[in-house]
Amino acid sequence: MSYSEKLIDHYENPRNVGSFDKGDDSVGTGLVGAPACGDVMKLQIKVSADGLIEDAKFKTFGCGSAIASSSLVTEWVKGKSLDEAATIKNTQIAQHLALPPVKIHCSVLAEDAIKAAIADYKAKHGQS
Ligand code: FES
Ligand code: FES
Repeated sequence: MSYSEKLIDHYENPRNVGSFDKGDDSVGTGLVGAPACGDVMKLQIKVSADGLIEDAKFKTFGCGSAIASSSLVTEWVKGKSLDEAATIKNTQIAQHLALPPVKIHCSVLAEDAIKAAIADYKAKHGQS
């Protein structure tokens, strides 16, 4: 199996690794697991007063494709509104990183994680 350069780049130089304070009102936290392999991904967004995602961080305990997928998503969501970020699809992630078919579920994890982070932020702010 050969991996794409973008995939290897995000795996070797992951962007935005780390975490924010979960209790911070401007932070939304998504924590999801992949049933297929047991890997776990935490993805957090920091939302500015004007409703845009100003920063994002992740920690992923999983395979290289999961790390690359979460790294890519943290880059993609910056500057987006919550509604825009919620439209990110795992298929876009998989295509961008040229994930092989057995690694598609790793990109699903990243889509689930950003959706969960958005839902957490909205719940904190009384939105549904
Ligand atoms: Fe990172 Fe495309 S490889 S944004
Ligand atoms: Fe399970 Fe990648 S997240 S193998």
